[in-house]
Amino acid sequence: MIYKNSIFNINEHHFILQKTCIEFAGKELTNQASIIDSTSSYPKTQITKMGQMGLMSVFIPEYDNGSGFDTKAYVMALKEISQACASCGVIMSVNNSLYCDPILKHGSKELKKIFLHPFTKGNKIGCFALSEPGNGSDAAAANTKATLLNNNYILNGTKAWVTNGYEANATIIFATTNKKLKHHGISAFLIPIPYKGLTLGKKENKLGIKGSSTCNIMLDNCTIPKTFLLGQEGDGFKIAMQTLDGGRIGIASQAIGIAQAAFNAAVKYSIERKAFNTTISKFQLIQQKIADMAVKIESAKLLTMQAASLKDANQKFIKEAAMAKLYASETSSFVTHQAMQIFGGNGYIKDFPMERYFRDARITEIYEGTSEIQRLVIANQILKTF
Ligand code: CAA
Repeated sequence: MIYKNSIFNINEHHFILQKTCIEFAGKELTNQASIIDSTSSYPKTQITKMGQMGLMSVFIPEYDNGSGFDTKAYVMALKEISQACASCGVIMSVNNSLYCDPILKHGSKELKKIFLHPFTKGNKIGCFALSEPGNGSDAAAANTKATLLNNNYILNGTKAWVTNGYEANATIIFATTNKKLKHHGISAFLIPIPYKGLTLGKKENKLGIKGSSTCNIMLDNCTIPKTFLLGQEGDGFKIAMQTLDGGRIGIASQAIGIAQAAFNAAVKYSIERKAFNTTISKFQLIQQKIADMAVKIESAKLLTMQAASLKDANQKFIKEAAMAKLYASETSSFVTHQAMQIFGGNGYIKDFPMERYFRDARITEIYEGTSEIQRLVIANQILKTF
């Protein structure tokens, strides 16, 4: 690491935050991560501390009760947290990118007071409910309905795959106010949790990131004040897409963190492990794996920092965020696979963290837009401007 003297204008503030995260992760996350994983327990103590450190609102301005850093700082911090504990990484990513960011951009003063300011320091966390049981990649096909009646919206439907759902104190819900208008009929709403008419489905039993919860949110005549609409009626699809552009930078950082953890462990292991009267690091087939993993991790870091820099400069970053997410997530799967290969049988058992890295990496190719969707976004952006 890391980005010293790089083209991205990394300054002392970035490095101080990064160092703080490395120290915190070493003390409070690295040893706890396997317990969090094996017990599928929400890391409440760790998330509370991360909130106190400013990690639950890294790029939210100080005047909105956030930490006042930028997206580059967010990338650096999230990578370090995820390197130690990928569950803590995704909880942090969802609160920052999918929950706080759209409220910062589209929330009124009143909405920010209720739904943003109390969610920046780890006391409360938020979630983002876009997907439904019948539609994930096709986000415009939302079937959850919101009907305006006097001064209230009445919501009915089921949202799916909601990260942080079980612990969240509020959610952003995307629902259609006019199905005929397709994506132009989708609106975004804020709902506190618990709330009358809102129930949570079962906690999903997942392959990895087991410390984070994932569940459905069911809405049955859930009646909220009209003022809980985020942005204008019909803005919801654009809010969701813009939010996911930022979210993809977060997931890219999480993927890089997981890859880095697997890479570091594999290199160390190759230097210690002996076979055929020498350490396995002396074998060129092992060296080839080390080189391939290192190049991919470095490339993923550069792509992710590029997307973060564009976001910080208020420039368009749709394509760059999709490239970063696609490349970093596929790198994470590749690296954890290769690193496990270097570990041999020891990579396949629970005595070592390698099998957890392998399981945690896989989801980064799926959530916040599958790799197939990222390719579609990248190609669309290129074809649009050619
Ligand atoms: N920013 C702003 N506007 C955008 C946009 C963006 N990134 N992408 C599209 N739009 C706009 C377009 O300009 C267009 O606007 P107009 O109609 O006004 O011209 C409109 O949105 C529709 O665009 P498309 O025709 O490209 O939309 P589409 O229906 O073909 O879908 C898609 C595009 C890329 C496939 C999109 O549906 C998508 O990203 N799908 C994946 C959804 C996803 O990532 N889901 C994950 C959910 S969160 C999660 O994983 C759980 C969790 O808690 C972590």
